[in-house]
Amino acid sequence: MNADQLSKRLETVAEFLQKPIRFADIGSDHAYLPCYVCQNEPEAFAIAGELNRGPYLSALEEVNNRQLTHQIEVIQGNGLEVIDNRVNQIVIAGMGGPLIKEILDKGKDKLTHVSKIITQPNIDARSIRKWLIDHEYNLVNEVILEESGHVYEILVAEKGNPKSNYDEKMLELQLWLGPHLLREKNSAFCKKWEEEKAKKQRIVGQMKRASEPDFKKIKQFEKEINWLEEVLR
Ligand SMILES: C[S@@+](CC[C@H](N)C(=O)[O-])C[C@H]1O[C@@H](n2cnc3c(N)ncnc32)[C@H](O)[C@@H]1O
Repeated sequence: MNADQLSKRLETVAEFLQKPIRFADIGSDHAYLPCYVCQNEPEAFAIAGELNRGPYLSALEEVNNRQLTHQIEVIQGNGLEVIDNRVNQIVIAGMGGPLIKEILDKGKDKLTHVSKIITQPNIDARSIRKWLIDHEYNLVNEVILEESGHVYEILVAEKGNPKSNYDEKMLELQLWLGPHLLREKNSAFCKKWEEEKAKKQRIVGQMKRASEPDFKKIKQFEKEINWLEEVLR
């Protein structure tokens, strides 16, 4: 893959960037996203931040090869330490929810000029939804899509009333499955949660056969299976 043939996942992320685009892509690996955005939008500016040397060098090479050094700064650094006041939006994609949450939390003091946070957690989107609520970000949009057999979730947040898209009575379920995704229930959503339900059913079966079953855990799993059955009915 290269920046010309961006994945549907990253293309969808790019669609949420708002002009004037001055964004940081944290964990940028090959800098495919910044290259794609800056090639299509000559006014855009991006910082490609990367923690690790190998992916940092790949990002640098991609930006050099595409002659985009006037629009993209590639910086080796940890999380949000690579951003400055020029950045108005950030993207953190392709990592686990807990790592994304940790990056946001460690760098929260650097978010003063950031009006939009776009994340794409590979697992545990719940931890990000929770962090957004706790830090006064409104989850304005969510997308779930399938590509090459994988299901991806994209969360878009802006500074604002963090609870406006949640219903207090359904909070636990909405944090887990996503308030917007739950309303839409598209085919990717149903595929992901049908698989998750089957997995939980298998695990509950195994737990019940254990010599000393963990009844508290079994009860929690059964509650989640019931929720999924209701949602997917
Ligand atoms: C799986 S890649 C995802 C690349 C790209 N964002 C995407 O969605 O296709 C995750 C990248 O994040 C980088 N990374 C992990 N922790 C990081 C951190 N704390 N700060 C910056 N980059 C990090 C890794 O080195 C890796 O290149």
